[in-house]
Amino acid sequence: MDVDRFAVLVGERLRRPRRNERRSRGERLADALDSLIRSGDLRPETRLPAERVLGAALGVSRGTVASAFDQLAAAGLVERRHGSGTYVRAAAPGPQPIFRRWLREGTVVVDLAKSVVPDPSLLPRLDLAVEDLLDAHPADGYAFLGDSRLRGLLADHAAPGAYGPDLLLVTSGAQQALHLVADALLRPGDRVLVEHATYPGMLAAIERFGGVPVAVDGDRYGFSPAAFADAVAEHRPAYAFTMPVHNPTGSVTAERRAKTLAGIVRDADTLLVEDRTLADLVLAEDAGPVASAAAYAPDHTVCLGSLSKTLWGGLRVGWIAAPRPVFGPLAVAKQRTDLASSALDQRLAVALLADPDAAVRQAAWRERLRVRRDCLAGLLAEQLPSWSWTLPQGGMSLWVRLPGADGEEFAATAMRHGVAVSPGAVFAPPGSDVGDDRIRLSFAWPEPVLAEAVAMLAAAWTAHRAG
Ligand SMILES: Cc1ncc(COP(=O)(O)O)c(C=O)c1O
Repeated sequence: MDVDRFAVLVGERLRRPRRNERRSRGERLADALDSLIRSGDLRPETRLPAERVLGAALGVSRGTVASAFDQLAAAGLVERRHGSGTYVRAAAPGPQPIFRRWLREGTVVVDLAKSVVPDPSLLPRLDLAVEDLLDAHPADGYAFLGDSRLRGLLADHAAPGAYGPDLLLVTSGAQQALHLVADALLRPGDRVLVEHATYPGMLAAIERFGGVPVAVDGDRYGFSPAAFADAVAEHRPAYAFTMPVHNPTGSVTAERRAKTLAGIVRDADTLLVEDRTLADLVLAEDAGPVASAAAYAPDHTVCLGSLSKTLWGGLRVGWIAAPRPVFGPLAVAKQRTDLASSALDQRLAVALLADPDAAVRQAAWRERLRVRRDCLAGLLAEQLPSWSWTLPQGGMSLWVRLPGADGEEFAATAMRHGVAVSPGAVFAPPGSDVGDDRIRLSFAWPEPVLAEAVAMLAAAWTAHRAG
């Protein structure tokens, strides 16, 4: 790993000195490295950069780095090899203290039902005072469409090029965006086309506003064009719901498929709602931007997304971008729901998106997810060889088929063994049985946590089959 990437990883974990901080710089650096090793981000046998080189990259002295390395060596986490360097030790460390605490306090030991950023360590350190957070645009804090700077940044970095900031509004997470779409577009009895496995938050929103989900066949690139065209003609839906990086399957929509679907909705004068919440989590190393139907049918595509999966879910910042005739009703729905999203969250999001290292951090997060995906898949292949899945190209979850078992029943058994998993049925619209023998497992957690979870899942599976 090159020293710049290493320094960014360390920087993410370095906590700012607290007021009256007693710990030395070396101790704080040792803590940051400790947390990277225990989380599995620094793998056994990784060679740490030379003291002088790392010191220069972090802006600290060589002595500070040497002191941190000594502390880690004393704790048994690294090994100083004379004349060769400092290496992460091979013995697998246990879960970080944070997970252990959780383990003691709750009934759930490990929560593989949550496909989330596990903690805020992806966020850069910010030098923001409370007064900075109160610097809202507009100053009264009621930004009905969102903070004007944030709308600009999201239009530049998140939404497909088809929409400028004037056609983008800020929401409280993508979950609210899904509800605003249903609120603005549905009348009771309206049909919405969804895939056989789809995001439950959209199903809940459709139900809440009296719509009727209709499941349409698909393949690993999304809706299959012929079935989609037939369903559009038959049901005249208010909209069709897609995810270019799919939750739960992790499949990625191909450019050609996005173009074909765009043509169908344009010709039928209906809408495609594209949930891009996971769009920045394509895990292939050479991946480019994920396709959007908005490139081909901007007047018939509504896009929405979130900062939850690339920065942190606790921010509660999402967005919707839509063609002008749809944008008005969405803005009205937003106002009647909660007037405006929190000005403080948005101010923080502005600072985070302006971080100069944002792209490097995102690449590091994707790489970490790729390693965790392969780790979970490897552990399952070893310990639960009868389970099957297609290795996801994106996202944060594995969509696993259990041979001859009911996903919901197994989820209950797994819970008794200390692991929460999502039963596949929650991703299926009424009448679709595609999730019945499935569970969804999050691989967003550090490798030692995944290892503990899989050992418990294996015990649960043995008990389940015996029972
Ligand atoms: C596809 C999809 N849409 C929406 C959401 C909700 O995201 P948020 O946390 O921004 O409300 C999620 C969260 O998992 C998701 O996976």
